[in-house]
Parts: sequence; C-alpha cells; structure tokens
Amino acid sequence: MSITTPVSHPKITTSTLQEKKQRHEPITSLTAYDYPSARLVDDAGIDVILVGDSLGMVMLGYETTLPVTMEDMLHHVRAVRRGVKRGLLVADMPFASYHVSSKEGLHNAARFVKQAGAEAVKVEGGEKRANLIRRLVDAEIPVFGHIGLTPQSVNTMGGYKVQGKTLAAIDQLMRDATAIDRAGVTAMYLEGIPREVAAMVTSEVKCPTIGIGAGPDCDGQVLVLHDILNLTFAPPAKFVRRYGDAAALITSAVSAFKHDVETRAYPSDEESYHLPKDTRAAFAGVGPKQGIHLKERVV
Ligand code: KIV
Repeated sequence: MSITTPVSHPKITTSTLQEKKQRHEPITSLTAYDYPSARLVDDAGIDVILVGDSLGMVMLGYETTLPVTMEDMLHHVRAVRRGVKRGLLVADMPFASYHVSSKEGLHNAARFVKQAGAEAVKVEGGEKRANLIRRLVDAEIPVFGHIGLTPQSVNTMGGYKVQGKTLAAIDQLMRDATAIDRAGVTAMYLEGIPREVAAMVTSEVKCPTIGIGAGPDCDGQVLVLHDILNLTFAPPAKFVRRYGDAAALITSAVSAFKHDVETRAYPSDEESYHLPKDTRAAFAGVGPKQGIHLKERVV
C-alpha cells in the first residue's frame, strides 16, 4: 500500500501553505461539514478544508455559533475526515472548549486529532490566546488563528461588526496578529476587517493570512460553503459571492418529485423490479384477483 499521494495531487500540509505564501500563490479554503460536501470540496482541489463552528448556524439552525459543543464538532469532523484525501483538514474549536484553561484547551484539541483525524485546530482570538497556541504547538498540534470579527465574541463585540476601524483598534489587531504569529500559528484567518488593515497584517506576519471579508490582499481566501451555494436562508454579507444556487436546484428537484408521485408519474414500470420469468408464470394464477394471499398459496 502506498502512503504517498500521486504527484499531480500532492497532499496539502502545513509546509505547503508556507511555501504558497513565499511563492505568492493564493491559498484556497472552504468549509465542509459532512461527507458529501467534503468529497466535493476536496475533489475540486481546495487547499484547506475547515470544519467551522459556523456549522451551528448553517447546519444546525442556531442563531449564533455559541451553543456548538465538542461532541457536535467531533461528529462533523469525523464525517469530513472520511471524505478528505488531499486538503488539509482543520477543526474549529467551539466556544468554551479552550476558554476555561489551556489544559482543557490542549485536551480538547488533542481529541480532534486523536478521535476525529483533524490535522490542525483553529482558535479565535489574539494576544490572549498566545500561551494556549504555544502549548498546542509544543504538543505537535498545528494551530490556525482567527482574528478580527470573531463570531464567538459576538456578545462582547455587540454584534457582528467590522473590526479594526479606528487607529486604536488597528493597533490592537496588529498586536494580536504579531502575538499569534510569534506563538507559532500555521496560518491565521482574518475576518471582517478593512482591506488596508488586512494588507498590513499580511505583510507583517510570517504565516499566511486567509481572509473572509478582509479584501484581496491576504495570502488566501475562505468562504462558508453554504454561503457560496445559497443555502443559508438569509441575505448574504457584502463579501459573499454566490457561485451557485443549490436552494433553487433542490427546490426544483423536490417539487418535481412531489408532482410525479401525486400524479402517479413516478415510479414508472422501468423503475420497478420485476419477477423472474418462471416465478411470473407461477404467480399468474395467484395474484390478488384470485383473492388468495401469495404467502398462503406458496407455503
Ligand atoms: O466557522 C467558520 O466557518 C469560520 C470561518 C468563516 C473562518 O470560522
């Protein structure tokens, strides 16, 4: 059994991302939450496949990401693991799984690697996460950072608001970016910040930056899969580009099925199983017309 991936589709590792930054090659990232979406995203050649805690909103119907649990995340990461071969699989650490203590954060991060096959974890927050990040990296767990608009801080931010708009806020963002870069993150997601600030962070830090609502000057871009497919039942944010309309596709398929069943157009004879010839002959005399149940006659 070969343990290497064919040269044409080399496995994405943490080093690949650093190399891409050096070569100024854009890094691609999308979320996936289950086996089919993981297969499709991975087969399309996306570099970083993130099982985001956004699944709480897009898959589980919560208002925020805060209720998402470790068990929810592990369940989805395992499903995605079974569908991903080439991309780097990153598990998002849910709210309160790393906020209580670094020890608990390390324990939970290790569960993603050991019990679900994640290759890296993601934590939200800047300077105040530096110690945790160092501990995870010491434990051989690659970490992705996430700064700017961090959805797990929705209550302290007072809503989902673009961050880094004042000089003081820019200064804090730069300190956050530098702190987690020095602590050893593999890459950092920059969410909901002005393009100019994202460009400055990108040129200051060693690790690659992956933007979402952070403009085109980041080292890569991420979007939520359900956003690009119109599967969120909400108006898209300014930065979302819709690449397909899965809602329209599904609605049309479901309506056509309903119509066909109700008009008896489905299933057709071709879509039905048939008796083998010899059974058909024997069956001819025992059908419902004779009023005898087949089982009674055959036994
Ligand atoms: O949970 C998520 O999907 C994320 C990305 C948007 C970066 O954190």
